[in-house]
Amino acid sequence: MKNTFYVTTPIFYANDAPHMGHIYTTVLADIIARYHRMVGKETFFLTGTDEHGDKIIRSATATGKGPQAFVDANVLKFKELFSSLDISYDFFIRTSDQENHWPGAKAVWTKLVAAGDIYKGTYRGLYCVGCETFITEKELVSGKCPLHDTIPERIEEENYFFRLSKYTNEIREKIENGDIAIFPQARRNETLALLSNDPVDVSFSRPEGDIPWGIPVPNDNGQMIYVWCDALSNYLSALGFGRDDHENFDKFWPADVHVIGKDISRFHTVIWPAMLLSAGIPLPKTILIHGFITSRGKKMSKTIGNVVDPNQYIAEFGSDSMRYYLAREIPTTEDGDFTYERFVELYNANLANGLGNLVSRTLKMAERYFSGSVMKNTIGDIPLRTKLEKVSCVANGEGYGIPYVIDNMFLPAYHKSMESFDINGAMDEIWKIIRTLDGYIADYEPFKLIKTDKEKTENIIWGVLYGLYYVSSALAPVMPRTAGSISGFLRASLDKEGKPRAFKTESPSAPLFARK
Ligand code: MSP
Repeated sequence: MKNTFYVTTPIFYANDAPHMGHIYTTVLADIIARYHRMVGKETFFLTGTDEHGDKIIRSATATGKGPQAFVDANVLKFKELFSSLDISYDFFIRTSDQENHWPGAKAVWTKLVAAGDIYKGTYRGLYCVGCETFITEKELVSGKCPLHDTIPERIEEENYFFRLSKYTNEIREKIENGDIAIFPQARRNETLALLSNDPVDVSFSRPEGDIPWGIPVPNDNGQMIYVWCDALSNYLSALGFGRDDHENFDKFWPADVHVIGKDISRFHTVIWPAMLLSAGIPLPKTILIHGFITSRGKKMSKTIGNVVDPNQYIAEFGSDSMRYYLAREIPTTEDGDFTYERFVELYNANLANGLGNLVSRTLKMAERYFSGSVMKNTIGDIPLRTKLEKVSCVANGEGYGIPYVIDNMFLPAYHKSMESFDINGAMDEIWKIIRTLDGYIADYEPFKLIKTDKEKTENIIWGVLYGLYYVSSALAPVMPRTAGSISGFLRASLDKEGKPRAFKTESPSAPLFARK
């Protein structure tokens, strides 16, 4: 079985500072990357920026900067924010990077030409700069692009076209037979409908005179590679495709999952597979399409004035709380609302009162009753085990307490959800355990039992610590700092199989999540 895993985010337009939508895609991809590293896969996690095209030139001109200086400044903002959110990318690709990206983009173009799929023609029609795409009259709502609420520009120009129409049947077959999986099902159906609508060939270059900022078409400096063709190639170029050092390409391609938002679905489910088929390159395995983050029910936008600044939340609540909110509260494949009120509500209920409180009172009991030293003993674990089995947190299996997280015995439903990119589902599984551990303490009242039966009390505390050990492991992809803190407080020593044998706990000096 292939033991590598390749996950990507879209590359972000470097025309402004990053916002919540960018972070959402990136946090999802980071959770997926961290999970696959945790289960032992050699993982490559790619993110980056899309720096060419009309939109960038216009924004750069408006600020009076040259395009390179302009994108350099914005890229720093992306990198800073990603770092404060603990985004564990392995490589950050920039389409203006002539050394790392251009050879790959040009190599893809050359392959499309070699396949006979690029031809010259005249494009007459409409262009939406916001989407960086040609748009048809049919797609307009009241004469405007429905996504950007702007009137598209009418252009007539000589372009190279890509013979997309040649590949649509083949792509439909590949989607139908599962060679390319599209999540969720509704988006898969949408793609299939799109493919039966007689797709036309797409313009794949723009005249250099109009768009001077981009990658010149090989052997024709009068044309620039169309920004989407340039951008999509990043998934290959970042691995060394088109360069001498292509070991990563050999090792990691095809991508296991491209994480994208619903607005760029057609590019990834139709145009990208067609390009790959034409170039003779294997297709990505999965395309995970998420919805939009809204604010008070509306898509975040500067004009509406409902844009949320992620930095403010990270400063106030910490990066893990932000990651938690996105993973738990926003439905992975639908739109989800982001409001301060809901953030505080969830933070208090599930982090401060839920997880944080469970950790702190268990540690306090461990310290007060056993000086922090809690050993495995053999009586009384059965009620906890039964409880966890009831909420399907444990698969059938022998052994003491709760089986090991990584071996799929523990939390089978968590693994199943993670494997199928259902991040919300995986989070629910973790919180089921947290609630079960809470219920266990409530039922057995170790704080009373300690007066009459120290041995049994130790056993109960042991069970909760054991459960928390696995909670922290399962949480690690989503809340890496919290997971690290919890395992630092538990200080478990492990047996030969990697299961906790004893705890030598340490109490935190401050609560994990201070109530707001
Ligand atoms: N540059 C192209 C992608 C090229 S990939 C080969 C692009 N960039 S973008 O900056 O506009 O968007 C990047 C990602 O952010 C997309 O997946 C988009 O769906 C996502 N989001 C932008 N706003 C969003 C929300 N409000 N909510 C959730 N994600 C949205 O498209």
